[in-house]
Amino acid sequence: MFLFLGLLVLNVQVAACTSPRLPDPADFIQPFPMAKCHGLPLEDASVAQIRRWLDGRALTVRQLVQCYLDRMEQVDPYVNAVMELNPDALSIADVLDAELAAGKKRSPVHGIPVLVKDNLATKDKVQTTAGSLALLGSIVPRDAHVVKRMRESGMVIMGHAGMSEWADMRSTDYSEGYSPRGGQVRNSYNLTQQPGGSSSGSGHSVTTNMVTLAFGTETDGSIISPAERSNIVGIKPTVGLTSRAGIIPESSHQDTVGVFGRTVEDAAYGLDAIFGFDWRDDATLEQLGKTPDNYVQFVRDKRALKGMKVGIPWDRLWTGVTTSLQLPALLEAVEILKQHGVEVYNNTNYKYVDEIVSPDGWNWAYGPTNQSEVTVVNVDFYNNIRAYLSELGNTTIRSLEDLVAFNDAPAHLASEGGKPDVAPAFASGQDGFLASLATKGIENSTYKQALTWCRRTSRAEGIDYALNPILPDGTRVHMDALLIPSDDSSPGTSIPAQAGYPIITVPIGIDAWHTPFGLSFVGTAFSEPTLIKIASAAQDALGPHRRVRPTFYEFNATNIPVNSAIGT
Ligand SMILES: *[C@@H]1O[C@H](CO)[C@@H](O)[C@H](O)[C@H]1NC(C)=O
Ligand SMILES: *[C@@H]1O[C@H](CO)[C@@H](O)[C@H](O)[C@H]1NC(C)=O
Ligand SMILES: *[C@@H]1O[C@H](CO)[C@@H](O)[C@H](O)[C@H]1NC(C)=O
Ligand SMILES: *[C@@H]1O[C@H](CO)[C@@H](O)[C@H](O)[C@H]1NC(C)=O
Ligand SMILES: *[C@@H]1O[C@H](CO)[C@@H](O)[C@H](O)[C@H]1NC(C)=O
Ligand SMILES: *[C@@H]1O[C@H](CO)[C@@H](O)[C@H](O)[C@H]1NC(C)=O
Repeated sequence: MFLFLGLLVLNVQVAACTSPRLPDPADFIQPFPMAKCHGLPLEDASVAQIRRWLDGRALTVRQLVQCYLDRMEQVDPYVNAVMELNPDALSIADVLDAELAAGKKRSPVHGIPVLVKDNLATKDKVQTTAGSLALLGSIVPRDAHVVKRMRESGMVIMGHAGMSEWADMRSTDYSEGYSPRGGQVRNSYNLTQQPGGSSSGSGHSVTTNMVTLAFGTETDGSIISPAERSNIVGIKPTVGLTSRAGIIPESSHQDTVGVFGRTVEDAAYGLDAIFGFDWRDDATLEQLGKTPDNYVQFVRDKRALKGMKVGIPWDRLWTGVTTSLQLPALLEAVEILKQHGVEVYNNTNYKYVDEIVSPDGWNWAYGPTNQSEVTVVNVDFYNNIRAYLSELGNTTIRSLEDLVAFNDAPAHLASEGGKPDVAPAFASGQDGFLASLATKGIENSTYKQALTWCRRTSRAEGIDYALNPILPDGTRVHMDALLIPSDDSSPGTSIPAQAGYPIITVPIGIDAWHTPFGLSFVGTAFSEPTLIKIASAAQDALGPHRRVRPTFYEFNATNIPVNSAIGT
C-alpha cells in the first residue's frame, strides 16, 4: 500500500483488557476447514512437506493443483482473492509430473502452486492489468523476469491475485483491495474489515490455503500490510534483489517484488525462486557480490537467536500501536525473544523521527510530516508507467494522460456506473493520477532535493543510524535488526520504503476484532540472510501456533460479499 486510508477505525480502543498474553489459536473458531487432499493434510502444509509428498509419489502435481482449485471453490466466494485463473494450470502440472516421473526435478519448488499479483506480467492466457479495465486486451511482450524464473523453477502459476487498482496509485481515498476488474478482496479474518493492500489477494489466498505461496510488490507497505492482515509471513526484499522488469510500476526508487508464505521458511523458498540479476533492471546490479546461493539455508537455525542484537525504535513506531490487545502481545513476543538469548535495546530511534514520521501515526488526513516521498513517487510514476506501456501490444493506452482520459471517458464511467459498488471505492476519483500527471515527470530541483532528503533521512540518518546507536556509556553497538509492529496504525513501512531496505513480517495473532497483526524485522540493504535467520528462529521460538487460521467473521448465508466495496 502506498497511501494508507480507511484505518482510522482501528484507532478506537477496545474496552476489554485482559492480562497480556499471546492469543491462543484455539480461542478462535475456524469455520471452513480444508478437506484432505487424497488423504493428506494439505491445510497449512509447508513447501518442504509438499516436496516430500511429491517426491515420494504420495501426490501428483495435478492432484495438488486440483485440491487447491477445489479449495478456491469453497472459500473464494467469501474472500475474492483470485482475480483470474490460468486455464492451463492442470496441463502445466502434467508436464511437471512427467518430468518428476523421468527423474528430473527443476528445483525445491518443482510443482508448487502459486498466484501472482495482477501487476506481474505473465505471457499466458491470463491478462495483466493492475486491476484496471484500461489494460484489458493488451498483450505483454514477455513474462516479467521474476515470472520467468518461477516457471523455470517449476512453480505452477495458478493465475493472478486481486489487488488494489494500480497498487493504490489512482486515488488517495479508496477501498483497499478493490479493483474494477476484480472487485473487492475481503479480509478473510473479518469480512467487514479492509484486507490490507495493495497485494491483498496474494496475502489472503495464502492464508486461506488456496495456494502454497504468492507473490506481490511493494512501494510502501503493499506486501507488509496484507501479510500482516493475512496473519502470514511477508518478505519485502531490498530494492534491486528482485527484478522489476515486466512489473506494472509505481516508483523505480521504491518498487520491489516479494513473497508471501505461511512460514519464513516457505517464503524463503519463494525468494530463492525469483531473486537475481536481470539486465533489464539496472537496480539489480546493486546485488552483485552481495547475495548468497540461496536464502533457505538461513532458516531454522536453533542457535540463531542467542546473542542477536535487536533495536526497538520506540519513538513514533511503537507509540502508534493503539489497539489494546496488540501492544501487550507484541511486548510479550519481545520478552520471549529475550528468553531465547536475544539482546534487546530500546529507543534505537531514527535521527529526525519528528520530521519523517507524523506524531499522529500514518494517517492520510495528516500525512507524514514531510511529503518528499509523495513528491518522488508522483514524478517516478509518470515516467515509469510510460516506459511500461510502451512495450504493450494491442492497446492505445501509452501514457498517464491516456489512463486519465480512459477513466474520464463516458463509456468507462458507464461501465463503472453499471457496478453500484464502484462509486464508494474511489471516493476521490483519480486524484492520485492527477497529482502525478501535474508533474509531467519533470525531475526538477524540487524532485532532486526530495529524493536526496528521502535517502539521507531513511538510510544514514534513519535505519543505519538506528542500527548503530551510541549507548549511554559512549560506546557504539551494532544491531542485527530493528523490531517494528506490523500494524496499520504504525507508520513502520515508510522509512524502509524510502531507503529501499528489506522487511520481514511474522504473524503474532489476531485481536479482539479479529484483526490480524504481526511483528516486523527491518535491516540495512541486502541484510536478508540475517533477517531470515532471526525471523525464522523467532517464528519457531514464538511457537507454531502464533498464526491463527482464517475466521471468516462475520459471514452468513446472505452475506456473501463478493464485488461490493468496503467504505473507507
Ligand atoms: C485486443 O483488445 C481488444 C479489447 O481492446 C480485445 O477484444 C481483443 O481480443 C484483443 N486482441 C487480442 C489478439 O488479444
Ligand atoms: C522504551 O522506552 C520508553 C521510554 O522512552 C518506554 O515508554 C517504553 O515502555 C520502553 N519500551 C520497552 C519495550 O522497554
Ligand atoms: C517542480 O515541479 C513541481 C510540479 O511538478 C512544482 O510544484 C515545483 O514548483 C517545481 N520546482 C521548481 C524548482 O520549479
Ligand atoms: C522536507 O523535505 C524537504 C526536501 O524535499 C526538505 O528540504 C525539508 O527541510 C523537509 N522538511 C522538514 C520539516 O524536515
Ligand atoms: C469486525 O470488525 C468490525 C470493525 O470493522 C467490528 O465492529 C466487528 O465487531 C468485528 N467482528 C468480529 C467478529 O470481531
Ligand atoms: C448476515 O449479515 C448481514 C451483514 O452483517 C446482516 O445484515 C444480516 O442480517 C445477516 N443475516 C442473517 C440471516 O444473519
